[in-house]
Amino acid sequence: MSSSTGIYTARQFNLSSLNGISDETLEMHFKLYEGYVKETNNLTTRINEFIADGKVDQEELPAYSELTRRLGFEYNGMVLHEYYFDNLKSGGGSGDPAQSTEFVKSAESAFGSYDIWKADFVGIGKMRGVGWAICYQNPSNGRLSNHWITLHETGNVAGFTPILVMDVWEHAYLLDYKPAERPKYIEAFFSNINWDTVEGRLGKTSGVKSARA
Ligand SMILES: [Fe+2]
Repeated sequence: MSSSTGIYTARQFNLSSLNGISDETLEMHFKLYEGYVKETNNLTTRINEFIADGKVDQEELPAYSELTRRLGFEYNGMVLHEYYFDNLKSGGGSGDPAQSTEFVKSAESAFGSYDIWKADFVGIGKMRGVGWAICYQNPSNGRLSNHWITLHETGNVAGFTPILVMDVWEHAYLLDYKPAERPKYIEAFFSNINWDTVEGRLGKTSGVKSARA
């Protein structure tokens, strides 16, 4: 069911029966995602109203500024959840990717080995705070790098392509694990990754260069 008739429509995800992440968690998470879509639409509409007369008046600036800042939060919250749900596999995945995949070759190229890439990604996922662990690809040279994103909008690298996106907000696992059990959730996340989706996100330049700069 679409949550809005606005510019953006909430997507439906055919996702259930994951390993260690309950359907109840997923249902709650889909609802949260729909909230981000709804707010992105609301903010976009309200900002459009401000600029409809072709200018932002001085007295409008505080409200306009706040709405615009909030748009960064809601917009990234919407988009990152779509990446997240898309890189999970209904029924559960098969664990780590096959050695022959372009992703493993790219991880080896940038990190020396898949295991070191994974240690970095998991380490970022365990960072204290509210946010995301994301593996990005630099489209200019194909290099992978892992990043911590605070909330939804702080730390995303401009122009880089999200390849693997992991939500580590507590709402992603609180029905299944205690707050301090985030490592167990991360383990469950890895057992549900849809590596075909991940592979499909890699660009043609993947693995071509091994620059560590
Ligand atoms: Fe989330």
